[in-house]
Amino acid sequence: MIDWHCHILPGLDDGPRNIEQSLVMAGLLADYGFTEIHCTPHLIRDCFEASNSEVRQVIRELQQRICDNNIPLTLLSGREYYLDEYLPAYLEDPLPLGDSRQILVEIPPRTADETVRLLLQNVVRSGFTPVIAHPERCRLLEPGAERTATRGFFNTIKNALTGGHDDRQEQELTDSTGNPLLDYLRKLGCSFQGNLGSFGGFYGNQVKTNAEILRSKGVYDRYGSDLHAAEHADRILQPFKDS
Ligand SMILES: [Fe+2]
Repeated sequence: MIDWHCHILPGLDDGPRNIEQSLVMAGLLADYGFTEIHCTPHLIRDCFEASNSEVRQVIRELQQRICDNNIPLTLLSGREYYLDEYLPAYLEDPLPLGDSRQILVEIPPRTADETVRLLLQNVVRSGFTPVIAHPERCRLLEPGAERTATRGFFNTIKNALTGGHDDRQEQELTDSTGNPLLDYLRKLGCSFQGNLGSFGGFYGNQVKTNAEILRSKGVYDRYGSDLHAAEHADRILQPFKDS
């Protein structure tokens, strides 16, 4: 299974503070069936500003320790970019997801609709595909609620994590999500990554409802744990193991 969003690297953001904590997370993710983890530390000006070379170096060090501990897990590169005025400059030296041209982007709270459009147009014009992190947690992208959410889908999401199955094929692809900005971003060519914890209520009922509706409308093309600490792993991942 592939995790497209994970804060497993030590000492770079609000994830684990040291490599021992990262190793515990790695062991848990492997136990839950993950084989590939995209390491996506935050990049936020004046907050989390590790350079790309630091990120690559920490990936190498953690991968070595993971191998030394016989944990069957491959780390891939990435960042979680913040959608603000500094993004265009950061993308002059990008760190995409794995070997792709895909850039994981989170939309900060209270961002204006027009700012989102302009900055993401800029990302696309630069030759990258924006992958919108956890749209279900973004107020600007809340879907229209006119469609009833489906139930009993943990297993199909789990299948989608293997990469051999496109979860969207299970859905009724609709032209409209009921949210004009979200519709615009789909037409622009953005991808959308759902947080696994959203479906089990880790972020509360509103986010859970949003996630169910977005999934029912075929918005997501990938999922991630967005794991920041080992103690959250069971609450986020257990619903998928039990399904
Ligand atoms: Fe994240």
